[in-house]
Amino acid sequence: MSKSITFKVNPGGSLKGEARVPGDKSVSHRSIMLGSLAEGVTRVKGFLEAEDALATLQAFRDMGVEIEGPVNGELTIHGVGKHGLKAPEKELYLGNSGTSMRLLSGLLAGQAFDAVLTGDKSLSGRPMKRVTEPLKTMGAEIKTTEKGTAPLRITGKDGQLNGIDYTMPMASAQVKSCLLLAGMYAQGDTSVTEPAPTRDHTERMLAGFNYPVKKEGNKVTINADGKLTACEIDVPSDISSAAFFLVGASIAPGSDLLLKHVGINPTRTGVIDILKLMGARIEVLNERIVGGEPVADLHVTHSRLNGIDIPEELVPLAIDEFPVLFVAAACAEGQTRLSGAEELRVKESDRIQVMADGLKILGVDAEPTPDGMLIQGGKPIGGGTVESHGDHRIAMAFSIAGLKAHAPITILDCLNVNTSFPEFKDLVKRLGLDISVAEA
Ligand code: S3P
Repeated sequence: MSKSITFKVNPGGSLKGEARVPGDKSVSHRSIMLGSLAEGVTRVKGFLEAEDALATLQAFRDMGVEIEGPVNGELTIHGVGKHGLKAPEKELYLGNSGTSMRLLSGLLAGQAFDAVLTGDKSLSGRPMKRVTEPLKTMGAEIKTTEKGTAPLRITGKDGQLNGIDYTMPMASAQVKSCLLLAGMYAQGDTSVTEPAPTRDHTERMLAGFNYPVKKEGNKVTINADGKLTACEIDVPSDISSAAFFLVGASIAPGSDLLLKHVGINPTRTGVIDILKLMGARIEVLNERIVGGEPVADLHVTHSRLNGIDIPEELVPLAIDEFPVLFVAAACAEGQTRLSGAEELRVKESDRIQVMADGLKILGVDAEPTPDGMLIQGGKPIGGGTVESHGDHRIAMAFSIAGLKAHAPITILDCLNVNTSFPEFKDLVKRLGLDISVAEA
């Protein structure tokens, strides 16, 4: 039995000071994957030492890759080349990490060995057909449960995959990346067209490793002709982790915060755009390019927020930030409407339902819809006990709500904050939130 963690937040406070939040989760996963398949030694700094990225790291160790570290976010990966992975002796357990499972399914489909991918209860309930179906049309052999969920049993089809020209039915960077990784082992071109822009870290990092990828509009194309050459990777801070502080400082009077070295890849900055539309004061300072990714320092101070209709084109660019954006909406004057976000229902939890349930307990007028939420904000937020359903971002979002609450908030089932942001409680406490942790 794993332990259970409860966060207790006393109401009020403000967020002040300077912080560097941990490394980007998406970039950290990809650094292990591409570094392992590269020729030569790849050095990574700023790696996210949290359970999800560590699950990817362990999977590659299990496939024979020598990886030193992480020590203070630094890793040395001894790449084995595109065809150098070894058959794992056991199932690859990927914990809570959808990115690990979906990207690995593509990467492993064309190997010379078989593999089984498993995960925790949440990951074992998440849809995998979105990757297994297009992979099957490439010639992959992957068995799922009848419901299309993990475990994924992959029979390696070394030399037998064929490229496809695939238009994704949903805006998903995981599906796109999965197919691009499979395309590195397929005959002919593999093209993926996305209905709306999604995070492009895979494409950028492939280019950083000198692997040819072609981008034309919303279509990315790859083939098996390239090789990956080891490089240096400097992982920026995760804007998805910074988002909790962007919202916290915006809603809490007296806040003044500088978040350093945050990744501001334009496929990830929807949270800044949405908060600014609501009236937030966020300055993007000292913009620079670090290892192929744009980075900046973000200065945020308290402001009065207004409810808005969230533009649908921003949804994929802020997809992980909606739990905390709902908290911002609860604190904003007037109505906020989110639509076009049905993907939120198949994240680590059903983030529409779980957030609506918790917000209602705190006295917020929040109505879930099939693809979003309607929130009437600006009324006082109360206290109470809410469930995070083991979803890291729900646990952190409700902690931030404490800054504007009038009574204590207790958040249950917070252990999985360790999947993306183990330092969250210490950092948010240092910056001004009265949070304590109870273990049982
Ligand atoms: C991710 C893509 C997104 C995001 C997830 C990380 C990635 O998932 O929610 O946290 O690293 O590619 P989808 O592709 O399902 O939108």
